[in-house]
Amino acid sequence: MSLILDHVTYEYGSDTELAVKALDNIELVIDDNEFLGLIGHTGSGKSTLVQHLNGLLKPTSGHIYFNGRDIHENDFDRRALRGEVGLVFQYPEHQLFELTVFKDVCFGPKNMGMKPEQCEVAAYEALEAVGLDEELYDQSPLDLSGGQKRRVAIAGVLAMHPKVLVLDEPTAGLDPKGRDEILDLVKELKKNLGMTIVLVSHSMDDVAEYADKIVVMDRGKIIYHDTPKNVFAHAKELEAMGLGVPQVTSVMKSLADAGIDVPQDITTVDEAADVLAALCK
Ligand SMILES: Nc1ncnc2c1ncn2[C@@H]1O[C@H](COP(=O)(O)OP(=O)(O)OP(=O)(O)O)[C@@H](O)[C@H]1O
Ligand SMILES: [Mg+2]
Repeated sequence: MSLILDHVTYEYGSDTELAVKALDNIELVIDDNEFLGLIGHTGSGKSTLVQHLNGLLKPTSGHIYFNGRDIHENDFDRRALRGEVGLVFQYPEHQLFELTVFKDVCFGPKNMGMKPEQCEVAAYEALEAVGLDEELYDQSPLDLSGGQKRRVAIAGVLAMHPKVLVLDEPTAGLDPKGRDEILDLVKELKKNLGMTIVLVSHSMDDVAEYADKIVVMDRGKIIYHDTPKNVFAHAKELEAMGLGVPQVTSVMKSLADAGIDVPQDITTVDEAADVLAALCK
């Protein structure tokens, strides 16, 4: 099972004079059980790309295949697809609208035709998985904090038991603790449930820490699609695109520039700690 984007181009307002080409001939294969990080400057097309993965947006040209089938064929069940490829929106407010948290999380499974009892079980399990305090289940989702809203939005998608979880900047606006909690949760979901994860992020540190592969977008095109080490070896090119490298990669480079014998392809704090500990011995 994989998701394939085959020469996908997307224009907003394609039949108007104000057409904006947001995706330009994207070719991408997302493998099963992969953790893919998607980075790029603001406006580079990340949100537009991820909204194609569950059929919310339809390519102006090109095709998207899920499990070998074109998702825009007439007889393809796109409602079922939205359960299998779960998208957590960039702004949780765009996703939460029911009167209570619990009802909100039940919405997805209900919409997919699950029986009421099954919906409730799925909602409880999902809310438990995201670690939301039970006292909040009957509150309005709009009264919650930013971090709590994101958990509810993730639970609403998890309750549909997706195979692919797509998160559009799920840590934006969270403090470091909230950020780590959400990302650790996502990592656990991949490990325990074998989910495929697509994580859109502005944080180089986060994608370096969690992703197996990284896609770098610039002006609607994919510039790099590689391992974190290979992507962050292009520090100058990334800088030219308004991106950076993980903080720890910069620190190790400064140490190397100062004449200390450390590798320059370090991308995670754990790796750096090992190298520095070995150096001190
Ligand atoms: N609804 C829309 N109508 C017209 N143009 C749009 C619309 N949504 C996005 N765009 C344009 O499409 C391009 C890609 O936008 P997109 O939101 O996909 O970028 P992004 O990488 O997700 O940015 P950000 O990091 O700010 O979330 C931008 O030029 C944006 O202005
Ligand atoms: Mg976006």
